[in-house]
Amino acid sequence: MKTKKFSFNFLTYSLWGGFALTLFSGIFLLVHYVPTFAQAFASVQRVNEQIPFGWMVRRIHAVGGGFLLLLFLFHLLRVFIVGEYKTRAGSMWVFEVLLVFAALWVNFAGFFLPLSQEAFWGTASTLSALSTIPWIGNSLVEFIRGGRELGGMALSRFFSMHLGGAALVALLLFGHDRMAPGRGEEAPGGQSPRNLWIFGLVLLLLFGVITLAPNWFTDPLRQAANPTVNPEGTLPPWFFISLQEAFSFFLSTYPVLSAILAVLVLVFILGLPFLDRNPEKNLLQRPVSLSIGAALVMGIVYFTLVGMAGAHYGEKVVLPADHPSPAEVRGAQVYALKNCAYCHQVLGHQGRREGPDMSVMRQRNRSPEWIQRFILNAQLYQPGTTMPRYEIPLEDLEALSAYLLSLDPTRRVFQAVDRETLLNFGAPAGSWEKKIK
Ligand code: HEC
Repeated sequence: MKTKKFSFNFLTYSLWGGFALTLFSGIFLLVHYVPTFAQAFASVQRVNEQIPFGWMVRRIHAVGGGFLLLLFLFHLLRVFIVGEYKTRAGSMWVFEVLLVFAALWVNFAGFFLPLSQEAFWGTASTLSALSTIPWIGNSLVEFIRGGRELGGMALSRFFSMHLGGAALVALLLFGHDRMAPGRGEEAPGGQSPRNLWIFGLVLLLLFGVITLAPNWFTDPLRQAANPTVNPEGTLPPWFFISLQEAFSFFLSTYPVLSAILAVLVLVFILGLPFLDRNPEKNLLQRPVSLSIGAALVMGIVYFTLVGMAGAHYGEKVVLPADHPSPAEVRGAQVYALKNCAYCHQVLGHQGRREGPDMSVMRQRNRSPEWIQRFILNAQLYQPGTTMPRYEIPLEDLEALSAYLLSLDPTRRVFQAVDRETLLNFGAPAGSWEKKIK
């Protein structure tokens, strides 16, 4: 056997360093974490507030996990850009892609574990996006949740997926490292000071984020999860924002076509070294790769921005412009107060797209009674829905259904009213119109 000299490659070091940090902090957290629905949040809070340096270990774990995912992605992108996959075993690239997926998965499962409002609702909305995949979406989500609701069973699944996924990442990382060509020989540019610089930069960034901006990756633990109250405004985990926006964007318009497209993209990504037989390595001389790669990267950036902008949903409320009745105004107020825009748009505006657009009530021939019963307990109609149950007094409920039924674009014209203006308005219908610009 050849003696193997370890080459100093900044990525290898950052990867293994990041992995070790995340692993050891994870073992620490594992000791204190209680994976039950009732106690998970409190146990994480205890780590954060009472166990010596617990807060630091939590940050290291969360930031470390996020960084690993970023490093994997970055590495994949680099291999693609410099055409490295053309000169080595094709299976290495497959390993790298699988690593990214596994790391995504571990991060996703880990995001749920603190069981705060953010964690709960962020996960719920990602799952609801997944459930819109044609044919398999619903069964897939039921499998992930271990049932119809996001409860104790789901938590224990997420917990084991997090640990199992982490083991898978370790395995893939090992496998990938074994495969590396020139492993043991001097890597090109091996000991160069440039590599050291980059390694230092990664370290600096890692610790910078841990100290200065832990909330980018760590759950701020504001409130324990409450499945009956949707939060004021949260986002899915950051690495899923773009996926989720892309999902709801494509799937809600062309479900089958976009599912086929997604499979094609997946096949393309996984099979890249086998599909791309062109020996040219310079990206500028590879027009097809260049355009597909650029489209993917731009798509991710674009949909992340769209998703982040969507976090400001519900700042305006859509109202009939032509003399809305007092009940319709009251209904709009209840709609704003209950934050229904967290999941519903009205006429394609002012909301996230998790549930159906509220302007279809007439089209679907919903009666006021049906709507009211649905709002009180959506589970009865759609088992497994993310829509919470609402306890709303009868009068407000009637107003709400009147409001929803008024949203009929074929009969009325509409305006967008500032949420604050709407909520501050208490007087009968005549006078409030003057307040609106
Ligand atoms: C957490 C997300 C969420 C929130 C918050 C939410 N909904 Fe929903 N809602 C849904 C989903 C998802 C559906 C579609 C039912 C399904 O298939 O699961 C739905 C369906 C509906 C429907 C039935 C549509 C139809 O005709 O089939 C009505 C009415 C409705 N929601 C009203 C409301 C109102 C009013 C509020 C605020 C008080 C609200 N929703 C808050 C997710 C939500």
